Amino acid sequence: MQFSTRTSPPERMRAGCALVPVLAGKELTDGGKALDAAHGGRLAKLIRAGDLQAKAGSTLLVQLDGTLPRALLVSLGDAREASAKSYGDAVRGALEAAGKLAADDALSLLHEAPVAGRDAAWKLRTHVLVGRQLAYRFEQLKTARETQPVRPKRVVLPVSGEVSGAAAVVAQASAIANGVDMARDLGNLPANHCTPGFLADTAKKMARELGLKVEVLGVRQMQALKMGALLSVAQGSDQPARLIVLRYQGAGAKEPPIALVGKGITFDTGGISLKPAPEMDEMKFDMCGAASVLGAMRAAAEMKLKINLVVVVPATENMPSGRATKPGDIVASMSGQTVEVLNTDAEGRLVLCDALTYVQRFAPGTVIDVATLTGACVIALGHHHSGLFSPNDALAAELLQAGRDIGDTCWRMPLDDEYQEQLKSPFADMANIGGRPAGSVTAACFLSRFAKGYDWAHLDIAGTAWKSGANKGASGRPVPLLAHFLMTRARS
Ligand code: BES
Ligand code: MN
Ligand code: ZN
Repeated sequence: MQFSTRTSPPERMRAGCALVPVLAGKELTDGGKALDAAHGGRLAKLIRAGDLQAKAGSTLLVQLDGTLPRALLVSLGDAREASAKSYGDAVRGALEAAGKLAADDALSLLHEAPVAGRDAAWKLRTHVLVGRQLAYRFEQLKTARETQPVRPKRVVLPVSGEVSGAAAVVAQASAIANGVDMARDLGNLPANHCTPGFLADTAKKMARELGLKVEVLGVRQMQALKMGALLSVAQGSDQPARLIVLRYQGAGAKEPPIALVGKGITFDTGGISLKPAPEMDEMKFDMCGAASVLGAMRAAAEMKLKINLVVVVPATENMPSGRATKPGDIVASMSGQTVEVLNTDAEGRLVLCDALTYVQRFAPGTVIDVATLTGACVIALGHHHSGLFSPNDALAAELLQAGRDIGDTCWRMPLDDEYQEQLKSPFADMANIGGRPAGSVTAACFLSRFAKGYDWAHLDIAGTAWKSGANKGASGRPVPLLAHFLMTRARS
């Protein structure tokens, strides 16, 4: 589904279908009124008949003629100003209904509807993101096509006034959607396809396409760097570990980069502390942090943001084997700190801690790590918000705001020093687990001991990166949040 803007008046445009917003059960927008006038008042007449249901996203098909054979009246709810939620529901409902018609292209006026507290850019961006979300399919491993081809293929958004601004907003939203799609594809790919080597090849391909610098470190190089924590996770697997580094330079060489670090466990069995069998397949999603930082890199590079960005992905499987790390083993991290591995299933923090030390060489101003880190975060926050941990109030506020602006929210969690005590070990500098209480907080506390020399935030996406059940699949979160954060950083 491709989105574009156009400046000509809607009544003079040709399209297989028009999406016409209706507010408070009766109000048309300016574009809607123009269309209605061009078609002898048919839209207004049907609205008066009262067949359109009030629920946001309800639609009513109207047969028209000429260069516009049909229109869908789309309800935005019963208020004269839509809420952000009803706007999203309306876009979804309209595009779903349009998809059942034999129309390849649509003309949408939905963004003309007023939405409480949101500006024109938000409405355009949300339109594109919701549409692209709906159009996403993951069928590369099916030999028989099961779903209908995506319709409408093209959606034109008529705009008046400052055109270049609107076109840029739609182009940026499309870049974010490309990043989301990429993250979803990588997340959905099973672990026999999406190995650490595959992630590295994907990064290399993306680097060629977008003109990024890429470097992939192998096991030998990580040994030379003394990444003992990362390697202790990898040692039980037959798939060689990789440390993937992508660099984008959109600002002056002297400007300190922002670094994004993504957990890239391509499959998490738990290792010797083996996970129970039910739902273990979902641990192919344990690289969704990596997928999201790669997706954010794609979005930033496609948008040509004026920032410098480094993406680092520690990628490995977590497997049991005769060579695997055993509970009680003590490993030395790249930082020099030693860790008693009491539970080999708390592996995410072990690969991330060395990556957090490694990024110091890029002298980043800000580092954000993204990880499907703890089941405890799902217990705390469910599937609505990602967990946000940061000792830095300003950075936390920026991320919270970016999430609200783009509808990919996070919720701040505590990170007080009191929790650090749970990580005490009688034999090493720290243990890799802190017991059952506040499991997502002690995981973040562990990371905080390595995130030194820069402003740091940690996003635990265990509850938001994918959906279970009938609609199982990667969500692409938090690519929108990260992309929006990078956009606001680029502006200032
Ligand atoms: N990848 C998991 C976290 C996870 C579990 C995310 C389920 C989403 C759903 C992580 O590596 C893990 O196993 N964490 C353990 C930590 C524990 C051993 C301290 C957990 O959450 O149980
Ligand atoms: Mn684990
Ligand atoms: Zn894991």
